[in-house]
Amino acid sequence: MPQSFDFRLGDLTGPRPETPDVAHTPASSAGDSRTFYIETFGCQMNVHDSEKVAGVLLGRGYRQVESLDAAKLVFYNTCSIREKAAHKVFSRLGEFRKRPDSRKIIGVLGCVAQQEGEEIFERAPWVNLVCGSASYSKLPELLEDLEAGNRRVTGLGTHTDETFETEMTRRDNPFRAYLTIIEGCDKTCAYCVVPYTRGPERSRSSALILEEVRKLAGAGYSEIQLLGQTVNSYQDPAARRMSFAELLVAVAAVPGIRRVRFTTSHPRDFGRDIVEAIDSVPALCDHVHLPVQSGSSRILRAMQRMYTREEYLEKIALIRSGRRSISLTSDIIVGFPGETEQDVEETLSLLDAAQFDGVFAFQYSPRPNTSAVHLADAVPEEEKGRRLAVVQERQREIQIVRNDALVGQTFEVLVDGASRRPGQWSGRSSSNRILNFASPHSDLLGQYVHVRVTRASPNSLVGEEVT
Ligand code: SAH
Ligand code: SF4
Ligand code: F3S
Repeated sequence: MPQSFDFRLGDLTGPRPETPDVAHTPASSAGDSRTFYIETFGCQMNVHDSEKVAGVLLGRGYRQVESLDAAKLVFYNTCSIREKAAHKVFSRLGEFRKRPDSRKIIGVLGCVAQQEGEEIFERAPWVNLVCGSASYSKLPELLEDLEAGNRRVTGLGTHTDETFETEMTRRDNPFRAYLTIIEGCDKTCAYCVVPYTRGPERSRSSALILEEVRKLAGAGYSEIQLLGQTVNSYQDPAARRMSFAELLVAVAAVPGIRRVRFTTSHPRDFGRDIVEAIDSVPALCDHVHLPVQSGSSRILRAMQRMYTREEYLEKIALIRSGRRSISLTSDIIVGFPGETEQDVEETLSLLDAAQFDGVFAFQYSPRPNTSAVHLADAVPEEEKGRRLAVVQERQREIQIVRNDALVGQTFEVLVDGASRRPGQWSGRSSSNRILNFASPHSDLLGQYVHVRVTRASPNSLVGEEVT
């Protein structure tokens, strides 16, 4: 059974709903003086930022350790998308109240850092660094300040044109490389903190992106995942002014690159040229993550999503009109202020119409600074929970049917997980489906193999290697 698999490698793609709690021992000894420990919450962009922060630290002679106890420098790269996510870092920081350790340097990075700013020093006086993602290019200077003995260091500006370039990035996955092409967000979704926590949109030059892709291919990476909160709003600052679709094609053309993914796309900026690129370039993955948030045009207007239900469904029709069969996933928020039973019905009927292959559904969580925080007609928590369950159940029924139809089909997967049980592997198809499969071969990690689906459940596929 897939549930009994215990994979040593592999990561999450798609938005990560909530990072599971990672067990760790509270501080006791500070270890040697140039060691660091970093724990990351939130989306893939945060995961990738941590890879770059680790690169900066390694470049300065620090060594990464896997235990908090052994670390001199402890960094939390935080997420603020929902209240529950933001709470996590404060529970981590609370551990230091119980067991203070003045030899450690504690840093809070990411979206909670940007949102709470110097308030974090008030709540947790043992914190030494507070730095948001728009200021990471200043990290080397901030580290110098810390090394010089300064005990309150901040990087909180958001008005920067810079993107976060590093000389070295310590990537977690040896086969799939994340690569941020656009940072920040200029949209104004009423519920969302990201424009406040990550600053305005800044696109990276296509020349720099392609140079990094060539280096990654040279280092053995065969899959590239281009990242941005609105990845398809990319605006090339280079003289070539490549469109997003042209950039996709250029990345896929780099020798050695077999797969190119991109996430997250905003429906308003999703054009026909992207579908045409996927159609004509097999290395572009046949998967699009296109968050809809609600099936009700009234709620979409209140959310300031800049499209109606009908316009969203037109985008889906466009994606489905391609020659390749493109897998589609989405995000839904239930319980936005003013959402009625009728609005929920419209979300359910949109699920039926769209036939997504996967959906991340969330209960609306009011966030500081956002415009929705001032809206009346809050939906009670209990009712949000009920609506969430209803949405998840409808999507589950859809996925049962869709996944059942895959039994007997063969997918090429990039193997990125091995079970402790010999002969059991896990890989991901171009369409981003996870397949757990049996194979008599050893050393499959990082290989592309063909797997035939033998069994399907709503959330996973089981198969066997075919040669
Ligand atoms: N940039 C992406 C996704 C950003 S965050 C986009 O525009 O779609 C990932 C998902 O978290 C969102 O798609 C949304 O479904 C959810 N989310 C964001 N803010 C939220 C909030 N305040 N409460 C609940 N869910 C939220
Ligand atoms: Fe948030 Fe909207 Fe920007 Fe996505 S597009 S990051 S939901 S403001
Ligand atoms: Fe969270 Fe910030 Fe990403 S709020 S989802 S870590 S952009």
